[in-house]
Parts: sequence; C-alpha cells; structure tokens
Amino acid sequence: MKQDLIVILDLGSTQNTVLARQIRDLGVYSEIHPHDISPKALNALPNVKGIILNGGENRVVDGQAVEVNPALYELGYPVISIDYPQSKCQTRLSALPDQDTLKKFLFEDCAAEANWTMKNFIEDQAELIRRQVGDRKVLLALSGGVDSSVVAALLIKAIGQQLVCVHVNHGLMRKNESESVVNVFRNELHANLIYVDASERFLGKLAGVADPEQKRKIIGGEFIRVFEEEARKLEGIDFLGQGTIYPDIIESGTKTAKMVKSHHNVGGLPEDLKFQLVEPLKQLFKDEVRACGVELGLPHDMVYRQPFPGPGLGVRCLGAITRDRLEAVRESDAILREEFARAGLDKKVWQYFTVVPDFKSVGMKNNARVFEYMVIIRAINTIDAMTASVEKVDWEVLDRITNRILAEVGNVNRVCFDMSPKPPATIEFE
Ligand code: XMP
Repeated sequence: MKQDLIVILDLGSTQNTVLARQIRDLGVYSEIHPHDISPKALNALPNVKGIILNGGENRVVDGQAVEVNPALYELGYPVISIDYPQSKCQTRLSALPDQDTLKKFLFEDCAAEANWTMKNFIEDQAELIRRQVGDRKVLLALSGGVDSSVVAALLIKAIGQQLVCVHVNHGLMRKNESESVVNVFRNELHANLIYVDASERFLGKLAGVADPEQKRKIIGGEFIRVFEEEARKLEGIDFLGQGTIYPDIIESGTKTAKMVKSHHNVGGLPEDLKFQLVEPLKQLFKDEVRACGVELGLPHDMVYRQPFPGPGLGVRCLGAITRDRLEAVRESDAILREEFARAGLDKKVWQYFTVVPDFKSVGMKNNARVFEYMVIIRAINTIDAMTASVEKVDWEVLDRITNRILAEVGNVNRVCFDMSPKPPATIEFE
C-alpha cells in the first residue's frame, strides 16, 4: 500500500467526516473506525501513522460514557484527542478549525507523508481487488450513474475481462443514456458488458399504475428480477461489485454515531445469490469518487452528471406512464439539459429536469383548438438534498427553452416553471 493512514476513532463526535475530510484535504489518507476497535485489528490496518480519538456529544451510550481500550495507547502510534476529557494523550486538539496543531500532529509527530492521491488510491485498490478476486469473476449492475460507472472503470483496470457488467435498460432512461453507457464501456473501455433491453417488460408492468409508491416498487422489484435472471445465466461468478461510497457506510451508524439511514446494498439482491462483495469505493466521499473517475479516463459528462433517481423518468412522467408522455419528458429533458449547458448553468445548478403531469389543457396551434400536455421545468440548488431552493433562471434562457419545447416536443402546448422550495415540496414530484 502506498498511502499513510491516520485512524480516527469515533467516540461520539458528529464531526468525524468533517475531520476525515480535513485530513484528506491536507493530503493524508484518513479513515473513521469504531472506538472499540481491537488493538489487533488496528495493527492490521496498513501504514497506520497515528490515531485521533474524536469525542463528542454522543459519547454516552445507555447512560455509560464509552472509552477506548487503554491498550491502544501502548501500540506505539502517536495519539491525539479532541473533546475527550478522559484521554491519556499529551496533546489535544482544541477544535476542528485548529489547523496548526493538526498539521504538526500529522507531519511532525506522525511523520505522515502527503501521499493521498487518486493515482495512488487507484493503484492500491487495483492491487487489493486482484488479491481478493484472484482468477474468479465479478458481476456488476452498471446503471450508468456516477458510482457504478467509476466502480466499473476501476474493476476493468484491475481485472479486465473477469468483470461482467450488466446494464439493464428499464425504458426510463434519459435520451441516449443507455447508448452512451454501452458506447463508453463496451467500445472504449472494452468491458465485458451484457446489455438487456427490458423496456417493454417494465412498461408492461407499469401500465395503468398511477400510485407513485406502487410505481417505485414495481420498478425496483422488476430490476432485481431482470438482474437476477441474467446472473443465473452466468457461470462461475463469485463476487458482486457495488458502488457503495463512504457516506453510505457512515450514515449506517456506529455505536456512537446516530443512524441517519440504513445502508442497503444496491438493488437489495436476494441472499441466495450468495456473492461476496467487492466495494472498492467504500472509503471515498462523492467528490473523491468523481476525481477517481476522471483519473480513470471516464468522460466528464458521466462523472459530473447530476443526481438521477433509480426509477428514472418513471417518477417524472406523473401518474400512470404512457408512451407519449414518457417521450415528452425524455425530449423536453434533453432540450433543458442542452440549453442549460449552452448557458453555463449545468456547472452551477445542482439538479434540473422536466416533468409531464397526466392531465391536458386547452391551447391553439395553427388556428385550431388543441388539448395537450404541459411540461414543468424544475431547477434547484441544495447541499444535501434535504432542503432545496429554486434557481432564479434567467428569463431569456427560460424563454428559449420554452420555445424549443413547444416547437420540438409533440403533444405539448404549455410550459411552466416550478417555483417551490423543499420543503414543502420535494425535489422530485413522485
Ligand atoms: P426528493 O424528491 O426526496 O429527492 O426531494 C431528493 C434527491 O434524491 C433523488 N431521488 C432518488 N435517488 N433513487 C435515487 O437514487 C431514488 O429512488 C430517488 N428518488 C429521489 C432526487 O433526484 C433528489 O436528488
């Protein structure tokens, strides 16, 4: 392993990830581990240079303050503590913006090197993947989202044709999205890629279903069935690749960290598939995943694409999905993305998309009355997707998008702009 490691022990701080980021931003790799890690397990971590005991407001569990195993002090690593009164450390960090003490600890006390780079990370992970997988095969559900694309690129680098990617097109992808996944991975990265066009199957199952939760359940459930069917056709697969990233792990909670949401594996695959997991991005934050994708040579658009829900355009074609409205969502979304990119808004706005409701309104086209659908434009900014504000899109840009949608998208006679923040609205409509 090329990288030095600073271990953060979680003693109930809410700032573990902030601290880990701060250390990584100084060029040193750092990982968060539970406070009760055994000295043996800690010693087994590669290239440990120092330990930070990170206390905080959640240090009392069931009426008892948690403590580290005193044997950890005897391992010979430099140890520093934050907000942990019982600490036996000589040095303490008074607060997280205390950069000077932190730098002195990292680079003088621990003699850590600033060798946390994406190039080193990729080489280390490729080596670990090769060791884990040997000459066996890994299966990966490649949605085309940032995380699964980066995992795929990393696995291709590590094990080439031993990776089998399955891309399921559920018919709810954006314009040209599946084509782009196939093109990049099969033609450019020479991946062993199985492309499954399951559009008809999904649209058939969704026909007449208007309830949003029901739609989501059908799409999620059907996805697992299609993927499982493909997996069963293959022989000699022992591993399942997953795009798990660091926030998924941290948010699952430890004894001292409050649980935010439970971490579920991608697609919730049935246990009887009996795969071992390969999760090479599980120590990366989202922006690091993107940097990793760039380093691996993935196209900018794929790495910096905006969040896209698993059920895809299915939750943007409101109510019961019909082919004409699905087409209207897909075409209007493509126009919106094109015009946002032309205006430079694609780099500024966090998420933007169109939806098409399942009702019509009266209009006029070529001097005749028409009764057609409307397109609603949504453009929001957020930090964590928990709350969101509306982007004040320039009038001229909106005007151009409206004119193009009205001229180029069939069955549409009206364009609206959604002014609602989250809350009370959510980002998506369903
Ligand atoms: P809401 O609508 O809850 O969306 O305000 C918050 C963010 O989550 C995205 N989203 C999803 N992402 N699977 C996903 O991977 C989903 O089922 C899903 N539903 C919503 C949404 O696009 C927004 O960025």
